[in-house]
Amino acid sequence: PPSVRVELRVNGQNRSLDLDPRVSLLDALREHLGLTGTKKGCDHGQCGACTVLVNGERLNSCLSLAVMHDGDEVTTIEGLGTPDDLHPMQAAFVECDGFQCGYCTPGQIMSAVGTLDELRRGIPSHVTADLEQVQFSDTELRERLSGNICRCAAYPNIIQAVRSVHE
Ligand code: FES
Repeated sequence: PPSVRVELRVNGQNRSLDLDPRVSLLDALREHLGLTGTKKGCDHGQCGACTVLVNGERLNSCLSLAVMHDGDEVTTIEGLGTPDDLHPMQAAFVECDGFQCGYCTPGQIMSAVGTLDELRRGIPSHVTADLEQVQFSDTELRERLSGNICRCAAYPNIIQAVRSVHE
């Protein structure tokens, strides 16, 4: 099919792509923009390795066509921090050993960042806007992160890392 022009804002930069309309957002990021930090595990929406933030919401980028995101703001793991200046969630995963092989880690981290944002947005405004005040159980955290599979089963350390950012 003829290619379609797609305008994305990726990690704060405007990117213009001419894409086959069948290209997934995941493949657009990895193969057309060279942002290979976002991983392809299953390509079927089952593992979470491809998690990015789109307009601040978590999304499995393998399940979405790039053309559906014209004008959208996309944040990938490359947009969070740099090796010299890690995002607090990246630093926490290092600190807590929240990985073994590391393949699922970008997706885990994007999902964790999105989760804390969801929790923040879930606070009734008359209570407080301060995330530090929000309490949630490990069970709730596990449930919210259950879309991100870790073959090495580093789950306890992942939960610990997310908690350490929250607390
Ligand atoms: Fe998208 Fe597995 S690669 S959920």
